[in-house]
Amino acid sequence: MSVSEKVVQLFKDNDKAVITAALFALVGASVVTRRVFSLLKLLFDVYIRPGKSLKNFGAGRGAWAIITGASDGIGKEFAYQLAQAKFNLLLISRTESKLQALANEIEQKHNVETRIYAMDFSKGIPENLKEIINQLDVGVLINNVATNHEIPTPFFLENDQLIDNIVEVNIASVLRITKIVIPIMKAKNRGLIINCGSFSGYVPSPYLSVYSGSKAFLSTWSAAIGMELKSSGITATAMSKIRRATWLIPYPKPYVKAVLSKIGVPGGASAIPFGSNAYPSHALVNWLISYTFDMHFWLRRNFEHQTDIRNRALRKREREAAAAKSQ
Ligand SMILES: NC(=O)c1ccc[n+]([C@@H]2O[C@H](COP(=O)([O-])OP(=O)(O)OC[C@H]3O[C@@H](n4cnc5c(N)ncnc54)[C@H](OP(=O)(O)O)[C@@H]3O)[C@@H](O)[C@H]2O)c1
Repeated sequence: MSVSEKVVQLFKDNDKAVITAALFALVGASVVTRRVFSLLKLLFDVYIRPGKSLKNFGAGRGAWAIITGASDGIGKEFAYQLAQAKFNLLLISRTESKLQALANEIEQKHNVETRIYAMDFSKGIPENLKEIINQLDVGVLINNVATNHEIPTPFFLENDQLIDNIVEVNIASVLRITKIVIPIMKAKNRGLIINCGSFSGYVPSPYLSVYSGSKAFLSTWSAAIGMELKSSGITATAMSKIRRATWLIPYPKPYVKAVLSKIGVPGGASAIPFGSNAYPSHALVNWLISYTFDMHFWLRRNFEHQTDIRNRALRKREREAAAAKSQ
């Protein structure tokens, strides 16, 4: 008797309960296996699998790295570590004095060329920046600059100018600068484009809706252009980053180190379906988000968290206003 005939026979024998239990067991086992496998893959990606060498993108061969929002925080750390890897640097942000101090320090320490460009990304990309970039052999672009809501605010109450600024800085300027750089990278058949993402691009952040949406855009767009550019030797990826936590928040140094050592490693079967989670605790949180509760659970948690931050920020504003009045 064939297997299918045996199954039919089992049904005929009215043994439906046994078969149903077996089917449930099978489905359960496949779900558990998938989760265990995804966790093992994540651990392998994060702890063992090496990323592409920065030499593939022109490190030590005269190539340039462009870093937006370079004068502080994560952007500044990318500047230090890319200079250490022997890229020349074009550093961009608003404050010329900070850029100049950083450029001087890096030139002395790392013996690479630097250029600075002071501009406000909320005002668009100046034509002469395009000319400057077109003269450089660009191997790396770090789209790091971003702006956020001042405090968690309901969308309909948010200041129109601030909404425009977030769209301009976090989305429009990233598209424009990347579009300038891609032909240069394609000509050399190599390039690395890192777009600094955020967990709020995956789990929506109520009251930070425009920022959250801008990061979701970056993640989707990065994955799309990453696929378009793969055959040109260009890696484009969104790197996830968590704001404000304890063990989750690495200082910029270990975070950037992890990012640069995991170029091209997808980061396990994580919540952010495309892009990379180089930092171990980020990767683990992504995994937990994906495989524990459903997205509505995390959305509600985020809503409660942002509501709490908003209430505290409003109380602080009231206290400051009262103090200013009494002076
Ligand atoms: N830090 C976190 O915990 C965290 C969490 C999630 C995601 N991220 C992402 O990581 C990236 C960097 O964050 P960060 O915390 O390191 O930022 P940060 O410390 O606030 O630094 C921002 C940089 O951007 C420059 N900048 C700001 N607005 C600008 C504008 N309109 N035009 C030109 N330059 C501008 C600033 O310099 P000037 O003021 O001189 O212009 C500074 O160099 C962002 O994409 C952010 O969304 C960070």
